[in-house]
Amino acid sequence: MNSQVSAGESPRAVDLIRKKRDGGELTRAEIEALVRGAASGEIHDYQMSAWLMAAVLRGLSRAETAALTDAMLASGAKLDLREFAAPKVDKHSTGGVGDKTSLVVAPVAAAGGLVVPMISGRGLGHTGGTLDKLEAIPGFQTRLSLPRFREVLAACGCSMIGATAEIAPADKQLYALRDVTATVESPFLICASIMSKKAAEGIDALVLDVKAGSGAFMKTEEDAAFLAELLVETGARMGIKTTALMTDMDQPLGRRVGNSLEVEEALEVLHGEGPEDLRELCRELTAWMFQLGGRTRDLEEAKQLYEDLIGSGAALEKFRNMIALQGGNPAVVDRPGLLPQAKSAAEVASPQSGVVSAVHCEAVGTACSLLGGGRQRKEDSVDPAVGILLHKKLGDHVAAGESLCTIFYNDESRVTQAGEMLRQSFSIQNQDPAPRSLVRRVIPAR
Ligand code: URA
Repeated sequence: MNSQVSAGESPRAVDLIRKKRDGGELTRAEIEALVRGAASGEIHDYQMSAWLMAAVLRGLSRAETAALTDAMLASGAKLDLREFAAPKVDKHSTGGVGDKTSLVVAPVAAAGGLVVPMISGRGLGHTGGTLDKLEAIPGFQTRLSLPRFREVLAACGCSMIGATAEIAPADKQLYALRDVTATVESPFLICASIMSKKAAEGIDALVLDVKAGSGAFMKTEEDAAFLAELLVETGARMGIKTTALMTDMDQPLGRRVGNSLEVEEALEVLHGEGPEDLRELCRELTAWMFQLGGRTRDLEEAKQLYEDLIGSGAALEKFRNMIALQGGNPAVVDRPGLLPQAKSAAEVASPQSGVVSAVHCEAVGTACSLLGGGRQRKEDSVDPAVGILLHKKLGDHVAAGESLCTIFYNDESRVTQAGEMLRQSFSIQNQDPAPRSLVRRVIPAR
């Protein structure tokens, strides 16, 4: 039976948890009280975690999702960036393994004349986070004051920071809880988390990379499409021109997983090199940013602009500039060896010959987290140096005993478990996997 929470009173946390647990629909006022209570500390982490779990299991209605997104946005400031004449456009991913595209698309888009005020997240569940990657760069500050954020934007057109006490504080808090309480996998919570942050940026347009597959939070095409539609609809409601690309996450993107390793691979792409799948996705996402920002007539022109900005070195120069402005060591751009390096490495050998027919991508992300690349508790710090270098991807032939991947680690006690997890995450058979496209579907702005 649903408990009744009367209007006018400040509802008790336990009643809001019970109401959601029993499948009830919270009112806008109740959701606002929940977010306010979490921010003020009146509602404790353990109570909020219980409510989040109830929300994952019971789901949220459209009205609850809208109320949660709005309340999370209202927990902090909303930027007014009208002083910048250029279109303000951002890109955000729903979370993947080896997904370092933000490190590439932000500087390319800025080099192409857009303003990119990017508020990113840390690792979430088995997926990596842009902030943890950026913090692998020695000295790089992701905690900027809002005046400094504006200064960096004015100086180089892009800045990448995390949610703070000033901007999107509710997401900062809920995100950290969801990471360690198995409460990420809800399209409604993902929508509120992403869209509250993005609306706080004061952007005109947004490109969303909605991942589908074994390494995504939405494992099936159907679930990913539901999330993509919800995000595009929410963007329209909030006055942000939002397009979603549903993209493949049935294997890690690129070949490197882990914070330093992923910065290194993003740098390869900015240098005009790097793995083809990563290059293709960076090109697609940035092209959509140029299109939504009105910089180009069509997608072909937008893709050409992307190639030109990589080829001329302009995008790399933007990244170097942004690193320096945010306190990091810009020399890493040409000398990635300056990034933190793990002390030891171990190979994961294939138990048999054949073709890689499937990769359990979530297990690859979890193995990286176990090595220290992610958090087990919210106060944990991450080890930027650890990670995985994949030698084999879907469709590759492998001989028995050949290395499937290399593990980079610092803590000996974790390597056996991570190695076993990685070995089991590769399916080796005698037939080629079905051909797949990286961009599965585009859900256009409404
Ligand atoms: N990215 C976010 O910012 N939030 C989520 O919940 C998932 C991905």
